[in-house]
Parts: sequence; C-alpha cells; structure tokens
Amino acid sequence: MSLNMGVFGHPIGHSKSPVMHNAALKELGISGTYEAYDIHPDDLEEAVDSLRRNHFRGVNVTLPHKVSVMPFLDEVSSDARAIGAVNTIVNENGRLIGYNTDGQGYLNSLIAESGEDIKNKRVLVIGAGGASRAVAVSLKKYGVNFLAITNRTLSKAKDIARICEPIGRVNVLPSTIAQANVTSFDIIINTTSIGMEPDVTRMPFSLETLKRDSIVSDLIYTPFKTRFLQVAENKGAKTINGLGMFINQGAIAFELWTGKQAPRDKMRQVVLETLKK
Ligand code: ATR
Repeated sequence: MSLNMGVFGHPIGHSKSPVMHNAALKELGISGTYEAYDIHPDDLEEAVDSLRRNHFRGVNVTLPHKVSVMPFLDEVSSDARAIGAVNTIVNENGRLIGYNTDGQGYLNSLIAESGEDIKNKRVLVIGAGGASRAVAVSLKKYGVNFLAITNRTLSKAKDIARICEPIGRVNVLPSTIAQANVTSFDIIINTTSIGMEPDVTRMPFSLETLKRDSIVSDLIYTPFKTRFLQVAENKGAKTINGLGMFINQGAIAFELWTGKQAPRDKMRQVVLETLKK
C-alpha cells in the first residue's frame, strides 16, 4: 500500500518538507508521496476532512494553521495539548490524531549538537510565540532545572510560565533584566523571527556580555548563520542553528506515519542541498 502524506500551510511555496520526506521515503524504499498543499484558512476544515476520504496517512501542519486545526481532529496528544498547537496529523483508520513534534525535535537537536547534559544548565528563551511554547514545554518536561523566558510582550511570557506550571517553574524576565544578566546563562535560545531572511542584519538580543563557554541557539536556519549566531561565535560561544530542529521534527513525524526509523542523515543532506541553491 502506498502512503500519502503532505503539508498544509498558507503560504507554502518555500517549504523544504516535500524534498526532505520524499528523499526519506525513497531512501527506505517505502512507496508513497509527500506534497505541499496551500490551504487558505477558510478551507482548513474541509481540507482536514478530505484526509479521511482520500485515505491520507497524515500531514504536517504549518503556519498559520497549527492552532486553528485542533478542533477538527478526533484526538490531540498530551504534548500537543500542553503546547497548544499541532504540527503533525496521523490518520489511524479514519481517526485523526494531532501531535506536536516541534518541541521534541528541538530538544533532540539541542542535546545532540551541544553534547552537554542540559538538565543542569541555566537556560534563557527569547520570545513567547508558538515556537517558544513548544521549546519551553519540551525543555521543562525533559527536566531542565532553570528556565527563564523573556519577551517584548511580557504577558505572553507569563502565559507560557503558566502552561509549564504543572511541569515545573519557569522564570519570566523583562528584557532589561534578562539583558543585564546575560552572563548568568549557559544556554540562550532565540525563538523569534528576528534575523530571518530578508532582515538578516537584525538581532533579537544583545550578546555584549556573553560568557565565552556558553551555547547560543537560534531556531532560524535561513540564513544558515544568523547575525545573532555570528556575534555569539565571535565571542567564543558554541552555536546551534535551527536546521537540526527542522530535520528532527520531520523525522519524528515520519516515524509516526511509517513506523520506521527516519534516515536523518539523508534528510539533512537533501535539505542542505536545497538551501545551497
Ligand atoms: P511563532 O508562532 O512562529 O513562534 P509568533 O507567534 O509570531 O511566531 O511569535 C514571534 C515572537 O517573536 C514573539 O515572541 C514576538 O514578540 P511579541 O510577543 O512581543 O509579539 C517576537 N517578535 C517578533 N518580532 C519582534 C520584534 N520586532 N521585536 C521583538 N520581538 C519580536
């Protein structure tokens, strides 16, 4: 049987997911397809319904549908519910189940690429949108002891702290305080879109007083090295871009659909090739 998968977004033109998933299917000799579907928000419910009728195995869901898709599903995983967003749907014989693989994808990449035991590190997350929520929930669930969030709109950072309360404490810091205490953090993570193409000269946060041995991570991977990461690198920090998160969130979704271990190296290789074009 052939597996049909895809991604729902609006717009969807620049998605690297089709290239990544089709390469993974080919690598494992699995018969199937993965296509990008541009779904207008007004058409989302009908598009989700069509997954059952057309016997899709599942889809990824990207901006702007990650939250609005939830009422159209039969079940939502506890992780996705805690994060408040779904990025992966699995069709189990007509029952549509929503998952969120973004947070776990990021966590896997941070653990692998930092090579450190992150549980005892002091972590600062910049930004409080959907991506930040996924990252914060996953870091707390993993057992990161000290986690702080700073954001331009402080009330949104407080919302995330509240969501995380059942898992553990999250400290909310106004930007001025976070900025004045950069030296106290071991890991600093940018979850905002500041510095993404085309506005590549912008920085979400000043790293003036960064410690030499800290880890600085950016969820962005276009550009491959944001100005934020470049400045961090110049100060002697280890840097991690968002490519690992993208590959891992896709790999976990692929594993939910196929039941097979995703070929992460192949997936990374083809995405890197498309980024160079
Ligand atoms: P996503 O769901 O992809 O994480 P989002 O919900 O638009 O995206 O969140 C983007 C984050 O980047 C938010 O924390 C936002 O800050 P606000 O909550 O104050 O809006 C932050 N952000 C975006 N542009 C910003 C800017 N110019 N200055 C400071 N913060 C910015």
